[in-house]
Amino acid sequence: MSKTKTRYVCQSCGDDQPKWLGRCPNCGEWNTLVETIVAQPSNSTTARSQNLGGRSVPVALPDVPADSYQRLEIAPSEFNRVLGGGLVPGSLILIGGDPGIGKSTLLLQTSANLAKHGQVLYISGEESAQQIKLRANRLNISGENLLVLTETSLNVIMEHIQQTAPKFLVVDSIQTVYMEELSSAAGSVSQVREGAARFQEIAKRQQIATFLIGHVTKTGSIAGPRVLEHIVDTVLYLEGERFHTYRLLRSVKNRFGATNEIGVFEMSDVGLSEVLNPSAALLAERLPYATGSAIAVTMEGTRPLLVEVQALCSTTSFGNPRRTANGVDFNRLLLIVAVLTKRVGLQMADQDVFVNVIGGLQIDEPASDLAVAAALTSSFRNQPVAADLALVGEVGLSGELRAIGHLETRLKEAAKLGFKRCIMPASNQVKHFKPPLELLPARSLSEALEMMVGKE
Ligand code: TYD
Ligand code: MG
Repeated sequence: MSKTKTRYVCQSCGDDQPKWLGRCPNCGEWNTLVETIVAQPSNSTTARSQNLGGRSVPVALPDVPADSYQRLEIAPSEFNRVLGGGLVPGSLILIGGDPGIGKSTLLLQTSANLAKHGQVLYISGEESAQQIKLRANRLNISGENLLVLTETSLNVIMEHIQQTAPKFLVVDSIQTVYMEELSSAAGSVSQVREGAARFQEIAKRQQIATFLIGHVTKTGSIAGPRVLEHIVDTVLYLEGERFHTYRLLRSVKNRFGATNEIGVFEMSDVGLSEVLNPSAALLAERLPYATGSAIAVTMEGTRPLLVEVQALCSTTSFGNPRRTANGVDFNRLLLIVAVLTKRVGLQMADQDVFVNVIGGLQIDEPASDLAVAAALTSSFRNQPVAADLALVGEVGLSGELRAIGHLETRLKEAAKLGFKRCIMPASNQVKHFKPPLELLPARSLSEALEMMVGKE
């Protein structure tokens, strides 16, 4: 029986080499050679060749049986929502996130819920069984129907899966799993990719819903979940500031549902609990007549979210004024400050500017521009924004207010949380629905900023 052969294939031009080199001799790119398996020893490929045994036949699309999968409703319901309305059997789900953000916690809690529907095999290469037990105790998880396996060898893991035949599988984390056939270290691109491919195969063949945990490296590139995104069915990222309690579970790819859906969780001493009304939670600590605070209505997937944007302008004591953006894109902030200076006439050239989005959220949507501009202006002029006012609109370079999407959904959410008025772009059409609150259309940023002033 021949030993597994590996070659080093350039990810840029496809040239292959017998041994690793720092630079591809063919295309000259640096650091692109990745170890790749050429031939598997035949005894371990029985599984692979089974699928290839039958000839594939083209089928007319109308004859393809629709909805052949039954989604499984899983708890917590926020998780369900992110998956597009339930877990599809046989799907492979990657959960990425910074170390320590709560991936293991989330999946242990989810495993306990899944165990009600069938056996769960929780494979951990990072923690010992005792550590998992301690965590489970803290999370009040009984652990019935939940098997824990501490193993990192892919071949051994595969044997255990064959033996226990679980219905759900959790791999914590894909970076710790290694294949003996590859000489590169666990966590390298080739190991991670080969491991994920094997889990994909077994998930599809045995209809095991599989969750892979992947750490995002600081640069987000090296052997991180990035290299797996095209292999798996669904990619979820758990995000949030480590020192804030809120965690967002965001879907960035989903073969079984809409992407960009988010689920909101709160981390406490008993693990992650779902936040069912995130807008209310995010606005809970707001001081209604403080200067430098404005409410934006942003869309996260199909979900509208009200967030408080805070800004502070103070005269700089150095030559170069500082701009600090927390939760909004830095370049976007520079643009808004420039428009305020040039088009609205606020003298911000000698002002240090700080912008912060409450709750550790990151809002990248241009529709929140107006709220950022309003918060800045409010702090600069020392005038509070009216407490019953929400703001939406994209700011253009000529100081115009540009139309935004999903206006109706946003207005409904604002009205639900007790806001009475909303400044919005005049170019947005509101004919096809009845506004749930008073609308204040504005054509330009200056117009909007005149309307926002609140009385104490
Ligand atoms: P963990 O799930 O281990 O993170 P990851 O698997 O993504 O690396 O969670 C780590 C953090 O969560 C840790 O700093 C402690 C905190 N935590 C709580 O605050 N409450 C809890 O109940 C648990 C289990 C963890
Ligand atoms: Mg972990």
